[in-house]
Amino acid sequence: APSTEYQAESATIVQGAVESNHAGYTGSGFVNLDNVAGSYVEWNVSAATAGTQGLSFRFANGTTAARPMDVSVNGGAPVSVTFPSTSVWTNWQTLGVNAALRAGANTVRATSSSASGGPNLDKLDVTGPGDTEKPTA
Ligand code: GCU
Repeated sequence: APSTEYQAESATIVQGAVESNHAGYTGSGFVNLDNVAGSYVEWNVSAATAGTQGLSFRFANGTTAARPMDVSVNGGAPVSVTFPSTSVWTNWQTLGVNAALRAGANTVRATSSSASGGPNLDKLDVTGPGDTEKPTA
């Protein structure tokens, strides 16, 4: 199914900054979240109909350790997503989860759940059911 792209640099950013010093991002930059638990990016996502859709995060993690985040839709129970190392900050990959969206306006918040903070986040793609993209490595 076609996906809708939501840039991280256009979202609400709490404890993070828009940067562009690591090539390969889409749009005008990416979000570098502070290296603390609780830093987050929140996207406003519109859905034509209620139902399960794929939330695909494009990210880079140039450290050797995976970085977990809690993903919460419309303030609901968080789902933990663990973003693996991509070896270098210029290697961008996608990782997705399925989530229930309601018709109309939704929020998707990705919150760092460890003191390392989140990976660098480039964008969120909202896809059709079952279309979540997996890491390429
Ligand atoms: C480096 C890198 C940043 C990244 C940060 C981190 O400083 O240049 O883009 O966000 O590490 O560890 O989160």
